[in-house]
Amino acid sequence: MKILAIDTSADETASAVVEGRRILSNVLYSQIELHRPWGGIYPALAKRAHEQRIDAVVKKALDRGVGAGRSMTKQMGEIGAVAVTQGPGLAVALEVGIKTAKTLAQTYAKPVIAVNHLAGHLYSCFAQNRNGKPDFPLRFPYLGLIVSGGHTELVVMRDELKYEVVGQTRDDAAGEALDKAAKLMGLGYPGGPVIERLADSVGHQDQYRFPRPMLNARDLSFSFSGLKTAFYYFVKEMPASEKNRRLPHLLSSFQEAVFTVLIKKTQLALRRTKLTRLAVGGGVIANRHLRRYFRQLARQEGVELYFPYKSLTGDNAAMIGIAAGCLARHSRFVTDPAALDRVPRLAL
Ligand code: KG4
Ligand code: ZN
Repeated sequence: MKILAIDTSADETASAVVEGRRILSNVLYSQIELHRPWGGIYPALAKRAHEQRIDAVVKKALDRGVGAGRSMTKQMGEIGAVAVTQGPGLAVALEVGIKTAKTLAQTYAKPVIAVNHLAGHLYSCFAQNRNGKPDFPLRFPYLGLIVSGGHTELVVMRDELKYEVVGQTRDDAAGEALDKAAKLMGLGYPGGPVIERLADSVGHQDQYRFPRPMLNARDLSFSFSGLKTAFYYFVKEMPASEKNRRLPHLLSSFQEAVFTVLIKKTQLALRRTKLTRLAVGGGVIANRHLRRYFRQLARQEGVELYFPYKSLTGDNAAMIGIAAGCLARHSRFVTDPAALDRVPRLAL
C-alpha cells in the first residue's frame, strides 16, 4: 500500500510517498532561511510558511511518487492512506499538516494514520530507496537513540509498535544545546552544522574540557543545561577579539562534551539492556564526527548499527510514512479524524 505522508512539526514543510520502507518521493521545503535572523523557530512565521507551501509540497510528492501529468484524483487513487505527524512538535505548525491530511482524507475517502514524530526519527534508520536497498530485514528489538533539536531520547524498541523510553533529557536536547552555544557566539541558527565545520577545522580538539553533565550518574538521563551555563560563564568575560580567535576551539570543546555524554549513555544503555542492535536518528546524527564515534562504539560493544541516509536525518515526511506503514499493518488507523485536532503529545 502506498502512503502519502505529511510532516509540519517544526520548520520543514514535508510530504512524501512511501510503500513499506521504500521511499518513492520525499519533498521538503525548508524554512531555515526564514527563521535564521531569529536564532530559532519563530512560531507565527512557521505557521504561515507551512500554510503557504503545504499544498504545493504535497502535489510535488504525488507527482514524483505516483507520476506527474495526472489529476490529483487519479494520483490519490493510488494512495491507500494519508499519514500525518500528530506530535510532538510546535502546535501551530502541526495543525497545518493535520488540517491538510484531514481534508485530503475526507476529499478522497482515505483512512488517516497519526504518527508520533519520534517514531518517525527511529524508523528513518530503516528506510530503503526506490529499489528497496538496503534490504536488511527488521529484526526487533533495537535500542533507539533520537538526537534532534527537540529531543534526546533512548528508547527500547521491543517490536514494531512497542516502545519504552529508558532515558531522556531533563532539560535541553542535544541539538538545542548546540544551537544555543552557536547563538551565544553569534553564529545563527541552526548551530549544529556550523559547529561541525569549526570543530573539523581544529581536528575535534578538546582544549577546554567543559563539564560532561550526568556522565557518572548511574541512570540513563541526559542534561545539557549545566554545560550550557558553564560555557556561558566561560565566554562571558572574554574580550570579543579573543572569543573570535578561540571560536573553533571553544565550540569544538563544547561539541566534544555533548558527544561524549551521548556515547557514554548509549554505551550504558546497551550494556544494561543487552540489546545487540542500535539505531540512531535525528538531526544531530547528520554530524560525521558523531557518526564515527557511534561506529567505534558499535565495534567495541559488538552491536549492529543503523543510521538514516544523511537526507533523512533532519525532519522529513518519508520517515513518517515508513512508521505509518507499521501502524497500518496493525490496522492502527484513526477512526475519528476529529480527534486529530486535539494534538496530544502522543506516547511513543
Ligand atoms: O531532527 P531535526 O531536524 O529537528 C527536530 O526534530 O528537532 O534536528 C534539528 C537539530 C538542530 O538542533 C541542528 O542544530 C541539529 O539537528 N543538526 C546538527 C547537524 N545538522 C543539524 N547537529 C550537529 N551536526 C550537524 N551536522
Ligand atoms: Zn524531528
